[in-house]
Amino acid sequence: MTTENGDDGPGTAVVTGASAGIGAVYAERLARRGYDLILAARRTDRIEALAESLRERFGVAVRSVTADLSDGRQLEAFAELIGADETVTLLVNNAGTSTLASVADTPFAAAEAMNGLNIRALVRLTLAVLPGFKRRDHGAIVNIGSVLGFRSLPVSTIYSATKAYVVMFTRGLVDELAGTNVFVQLVAPAATATDIWDISGVPLSALDPATVMTVETMVDAALAGLDAGEAVTMPSVEDASRLIAALDDATLALLGASQTSEPAARYLSQVP
Ligand SMILES: NC(=O)c1ccc[n+]([C@@H]2O[C@H](COP(=O)([O-])OP(=O)(O)OC[C@H]3O[C@@H](n4cnc5c(N)ncnc54)[C@H](OP(=O)(O)O)[C@@H]3O)[C@@H](O)[C@H]2O)c1
Repeated sequence: MTTENGDDGPGTAVVTGASAGIGAVYAERLARRGYDLILAARRTDRIEALAESLRERFGVAVRSVTADLSDGRQLEAFAELIGADETVTLLVNNAGTSTLASVADTPFAAAEAMNGLNIRALVRLTLAVLPGFKRRDHGAIVNIGSVLGFRSLPVSTIYSATKAYVVMFTRGLVDELAGTNVFVQLVAPAATATDIWDISGVPLSALDPATVMTVETMVDAALAGLDAGEAVTMPSVEDASRLIAALDDATLALLGASQTSEPAARYLSQVP
């Protein structure tokens, strides 16, 4: 349906973690907008069924790629695939996983799964498409973070740390790409009704339903944020721009206060 850079369409969108939850809804919404798609996840049957349905409903080209993105070799192969495809104009780094437990109660394998998927895969895939986007001065990257990337709870220290990486990485990238036509968006959802809760060990039923958004509402709000050119989209936060500005003021004040060769006065008696 499309060839290059939106000449006769918006191009190809890559959605990781498209077999369920937020990624599956992104895939549907982007197909509806006319994007061709490359969908990745481990469950082949699910992404193939979704691909087939999107081809039929929207007439777009959809490739499904079975890939465990926490596996170094499979990640590399997928990165090379999308990096070599000049029709790619949008990357949605959505695949993620969560184990919610205290640090002491988290098996190292679970910590590694979160680090590998939430951080390493997201960085590798960003690096795969970014040079082409910069060369063509065209393209967008949507990184799915979390409100828990701004603050950890006692059960979310490791997950929050991975999402804090996503926050810092994505916002840094936004600043780096200022003045170009390469757009980067951080999406930081709060609780959204997907399987990740059962996977995390905290079932959705344990949450106050009044705090849980449907996946469709979350993704539609995030896409509205993308359309509006928001660098940070927090779908459930009413006053997000004011609160983010206050956070930035506080962190800038802290960074500014650190810029001296002298130790703080409270340490002077200890410094020879
Ligand atoms: N739901 C929430 O409350 C919430 C809130 C804030 C942020 N988020 C973030 O939103 C993103 C999507 O999560 P979700 O809530 O939609 O969860 P989900 O329903 O569990 O979906 C996760 C997706 O990631 C894929 N995935 C998991 N491990 C993978 C691997 N090793 N390699 C490739 N794909 C893998 C899964 O597919 P396969 O199992 O088929 O591989 C699935 O398609 C995540 O980054 C999550 O951290 C979610």
